[in-house]
Amino acid sequence: MKTILTGVKPTGTVHFGNYVGAIRPAIQLGHDINAKGGRHIMFVADYHAINAIKDAPLLKQLTKEIASTYLACGLDPKHSLFYKQSDVPELFELTTILMAYTPKGLMNKSHAYKAQVDKNMAKGEPNDAGINMGLYTYPVLMAADILAYDTDIVPVGKDQIQHVEIAADIAGSINAHYKKEVLKIPEYVVQVNSQVLPGTDGQKMSKSYNNVIPLFADDNVLKKAVMGIKTDCQGLNDKKNPEDILLYHIIKGVAKDDVVQTVKDGLEQGGMGYGDIKKMLLNALHEEIDEKREKYNYYMTHFDEVEDMLQDGAKRARDIAAPVLNRVKDVIFNR
Ligand code: TRP
Repeated sequence: MKTILTGVKPTGTVHFGNYVGAIRPAIQLGHDINAKGGRHIMFVADYHAINAIKDAPLLKQLTKEIASTYLACGLDPKHSLFYKQSDVPELFELTTILMAYTPKGLMNKSHAYKAQVDKNMAKGEPNDAGINMGLYTYPVLMAADILAYDTDIVPVGKDQIQHVEIAADIAGSINAHYKKEVLKIPEYVVQVNSQVLPGTDGQKMSKSYNNVIPLFADDNVLKKAVMGIKTDCQGLNDKKNPEDILLYHIIKGVAKDDVVQTVKDGLEQGGMGYGDIKKMLLNALHEEIDEKREKYNYYMTHFDEVEDMLQDGAKRARDIAAPVLNRVKDVIFNR
């Protein structure tokens, strides 16, 4: 039986780029794993989030949003383990243990930390300005997240590959030191069915570029975002190459194949206006999320029900993590 684990940080209001790039494929994967009798683990990395978010009400709000989003999009908490990292204290014991086997030099090489140093240097500030130990040791907590459940596979976006490699490194050196398999060595898999959705300005959709189409916004906000998608000034009847058209790339990420084909034909032959395509896109977005949005709004207003699910998930997670932690302590303390 394989164990597949994914963590998600509650860092910002969820948009369609997150949905097609991470949420939808993660939930699909969960269904696939569960159907095959494997174990699927999905958690909210709220301890990782506090490195950056010190505004407690904001963190609570973002945590609610991300948990409600995954449930609304179809994550099945009966079959997938779904919990908040902060509700599994075994992780923090394991983190402390892993620290002792993590070379400091390995952390110096971590991308998340290095990126912040680079930013500081570019701004002419001291290298470590604004960097806390949580950010510096980020990969150790992430290793604990993974190793605590004897995880086999971690599906990742490219930016997280290094973190899983570090987890494998730390586990490997503990195993080598005690000459036995104390911890299972995890592997990463780069998610194949995930897509990168461009934002309304053509750059990658991202909160920091201010170009997002929010996932669960009200009708008028959604409409405004779609109507604001950048278009060029080619004439209505010009024959266009769909690959050059931003709207085409966005609609390809969310609409059904027949709609995408209609748009493709319309652009190639000319005669289909950008306004028409925006309307089709808006319809496609509604088709994809209206039902989910209703569920999302329900969960957001009945969060006690979500909290119960998360608590149940945490309990089941602890039942798996506790024996792993004990196994490690038996070895390192020769118990
Ligand atoms: N670092 C991940 C991110 O930024 C979140 C995360 C925390 C995670 N712990 C994890 C992902 C364990 C996979 C496995 O998205």
